[in-house]
This record gives sequence, C-alpha cells and structure tokens, in this order.
Amino acid sequence: MEQYHTGNKVIDEGKQGEALVLEAQKPGNRKLYIESYGCQMNFSDSEIVASILTEHGFDTTRDIEEADVIFVNTCSIREKAEQTVRKRLRTFQKLKEKKKDITIGVLGCMAERLKEKFLEEEKLVDIVVGPDAYRDLPNLINTVDHGQKAVNVQLSKEETYADISPVRLNSNGVTAFVSIMRGCDNMCTFCVVPFTRGRERSRDTESIVNEVRELHEKGYKEVTLLGQNVDSYLWYGGGAKMDFKKLSEIQKASSVNFAQLLEKVALVSPEMRIRFSTSHPQDMSNQVLETMAKYENICDYIHLPVQSGSSRVLEMMNRGYTREWYLERIDAIKRIIPGCAISQDIISSFCSETEEDHQETLSLMDHVKFDYGFMFKYSERPNTKAARQFEDDVPEDVKSRRLTEIINKQRQHSMEYNQTRVGKTFKVLVEGFSKRSDEHLFGRTTHNSVAVFPKKHYKPGDYVMVRITDCNSATLIGESVED
Ligand code: SAH
Ligand code: SF4
Ligand code: F3S
Repeated sequence: MEQYHTGNKVIDEGKQGEALVLEAQKPGNRKLYIESYGCQMNFSDSEIVASILTEHGFDTTRDIEEADVIFVNTCSIREKAEQTVRKRLRTFQKLKEKKKDITIGVLGCMAERLKEKFLEEEKLVDIVVGPDAYRDLPNLINTVDHGQKAVNVQLSKEETYADISPVRLNSNGVTAFVSIMRGCDNMCTFCVVPFTRGRERSRDTESIVNEVRELHEKGYKEVTLLGQNVDSYLWYGGGAKMDFKKLSEIQKASSVNFAQLLEKVALVSPEMRIRFSTSHPQDMSNQVLETMAKYENICDYIHLPVQSGSSRVLEMMNRGYTREWYLERIDAIKRIIPGCAISQDIISSFCSETEEDHQETLSLMDHVKFDYGFMFKYSERPNTKAARQFEDDVPEDVKSRRLTEIINKQRQHSMEYNQTRVGKTFKVLVEGFSKRSDEHLFGRTTHNSVAVFPKKHYKPGDYVMVRITDCNSATLIGESVED
C-alpha cells in the first residue's frame, strides 16, 4: 500500500486519522474533536488549534459522538490523501443527521487549496480555514453559531504561532514535535505545498528554545524540529526567507541558521534527544552535519528525500540538485557521521520518466542503501507547474510496476540493514508498550529504528541499552542489558 510519512511515523493513507485528544475536561464546555491527516506539520498544527480553542472555552474529546465541533485537518499532497478526507466527511454526514447542531470544519492544506469551493462541493461543511488563519477560529465558530458559513484562507508572510504553547494531544509524554518554520519557497514542480502553506518563514529562535526547555521540564525526552526545508531556517530578527549574503552586518552577527539552532536546542539538556525533518539535499550544509556529529543527543538519522535518481527528471522537478550532487551529500554524511541512518522519499513515474530514468533511481538506491524510505506514485496536483506544463504520461500499469520494483528494493535494503544490527547493543528511548503484548516495550534507536524488548522494570521515557537478537525489515527485536 502507498504510504505517506509523518517523519518518524508512517500512516497508511487508507487509515483513518488519529483523533487527537486532551484528557482533562471541565464540565459545561463545548467539546472539540480533531482528526489529522498528512505530515507531522498537520499534527503539530492541530495542537496549536487545540490550544487556541481551549483558551476560548472548548475541551477536546476522543469520542466523536459527544463532539459539538468536529475538525478535520487535511492533506492535499496526493489525490488519494484528498479522497480519504472526502470519504471521512461522508461519515460525518451521518452524525450530523442525528445531531443537527454540530459544526464541521475543514482545516489545513485541502481547505487552502479548494477555498470557498469546498463549501459548494461538500454541503455539510460549515467552516473552511487555511493553515495561517487558526487564530481566527473562535471568530469563525461564532459566525457559524449565528447561522452562516465561515471561510478564512488568508495566507501570511509572518505567522508562525510562535507565542502559542501547543496543547500536546495524544501524547506519549516522551516525544513531541516543535515547528521551527512554516511554508515553502522551493516550488518543486510536482508539489502542492507552496500553494497550500504559503511563503517560507522561520520562527523566532528564542521561542523554539523556550518550548524545548518547557518540554524538558515536563519530562519529555525527544523533540522533532519540523519544517518543509529545515536547512534553510534563518532567524535574523525577522523570519521571512532571506539569503544570508543579503543581510546587513548587524543582522549577520546576530542571525541563527539551522546548524546554530540545532546546537542551541541540543544544549537544553543532554537527556533530550533531537531529531528534525525534512532536510533538503540542495541546502543541507556540512555545518549541520558537523553539529550533529558534535552532540550525542542529536540523533544519527537524516531523512533526505531524493525523489529521483535521474538528473534529467530532477531538473524537470525543479529540485535544484543533480544525481551527482545528491551522492556527494550522501558521501559527506557518511564521512562526517559514520553509521548515520539515511531515509528517502521517492516519486516514481513522474512526467516523461523513461525506463532508463527508472533504472537510475534503482541504481542510486543500490549505491546509497537507504535504511528505509517512503515511496509514491506520481500524483498530478492541480495548478502545479507539472500539471500545467507537463503530461502525466506514464501508463498506470507501468507506474505500478516501477513502484513495486522500488518498494521491493527498499525492503531488501531495510532487511539487510537490520540484519547488520543483530548482535549489537543500542541505546533505546522507550516510547510505549508494544502493540502486540503488554509485556513488551517499544522504543527507537538513534537511527530511528524501532526496537521491541521485554519490559522487565522499564517504562516509557527510560533510556535502555538493548541487545538486538533478531529482526524483520521493519523492527529490531532484542533484550535489555544492564549498563
Ligand atoms: N518538503 C519535503 C517533502 C514534503 S511532501 C521535501 O521537499 O522533501 C512529502 C513527500 O511527498 C515528498 O518528498 C514527495 O516524495 C511526495 N510528494 C509530493 N508531491 C507529490 C506528488 N504530486 N505525487 C506523489 N508524491 C508526492
Ligand atoms: Fe514541496 Fe519541494 Fe517544498 Fe518539499 S521542498 S514541500 S517537495 S515544494
Ligand atoms: Fe499534506 Fe500539507 Fe503536509 S499537503 S504533506 S499536510 S504540508
């Protein structure tokens, strides 16, 4: 099945989104239920939405049946992601037939892409709100209370919700997301994100470090810094995307780039693990890699989407790098951080992709040997440059065959990787109980591999040394060793 990623978590596109829930409930307040789809950004945004609304007299609920307001935070990245949301809206229809006064809102990227059109296409929807307009939600709900529909899809060049302290939803109390920037200015020709998320902007460094410090004080042990292209993070007193060379001397002196941000966050506590997503091959600097190597608590794992192994296709995608450039960046990772895990995103069968281009993707995979990856068939998105100027011309059966070849190769590499880890001991941060058994815990290694082991006296939030005894292509199996 096609999958899309939320960085270190994978969600099947067909699977229902997770209900994000705040446990504490005061009697009498209206109840909000939020379901989130798509990337980690959306899950993180839902926590901001929950924070804004709990300030305005709402409690969140895990039980959709008791909700007064139902929000679905949506994704537009591929056609299938949008279909999943539309199917879900059909089931909300049934709820609304039973309980007429519930308010249904569509948030996120699909709301931004379709704007008012959403209200015409989906009659039961009351609110359509884009990713930069969440502060307006109390207002929009008020409009609906007065019998009207409400839309705000205004994008912003500044909004980063820096001052909002997210309400941690569905939290394991161990790991948390922290947004460090919003939007994307890259304009890859296949991608809808620049249209749905607007211009790139970085969040005030101090507010990021403070948020991480607060998480540490609450007992969290891992943060994942989020952005569509974290390597172009730059705070210089303002956050709009800026070329460092164009800053004044004073701005340059006080500016913070991604490597410097990583260092500041790593210094909050050696007990706090740091991850980040997503790196861009065009912008990932040696300074970032050297900072990773310097701090034990910055995890040895980089998600570095390649999209294609063919320079010709990469150019059509406007990715800003060639096959050779990408491979040079891989060499730099392996040189500066020996043993670093690397994962990929690949789009198979982009417009005009030939068998030769496809073979180049396979050969690049053989060369790099990614730990794992997220692989997709190209899905044409309305209004992108690829949709306007190129033909989506790879036949469906060829698309399927190529994707299967890519997935099979990845599976084989993941298996080989995991096998090299059998017999070794890793420091695992425990995140929770294994799905299969209450007697087993699961956690992650620095390489972001999932490890399962008998729980003994350990609990979520502990760092445990685990000796790996067995594996499959997705999971390491082991036992704790006393350190
Ligand atoms: N900012 C990240 C990616 C965000 S979208 C980056 O640049 O790497 C996550 C992944 O979805 C992308 O890496 C790409 O592999 C995939 N994707 C994006 N648009 C797509 C499309 N139109 N069809 C298929 N896959 C797509
Ligand atoms: Fe999309 Fe490219 Fe931006 Fe990633 S870098 S979000 S693929 S436009
Ligand atoms: Fe989807 Fe929007 Fe994220 S399109 S992948 S939810 S930025």
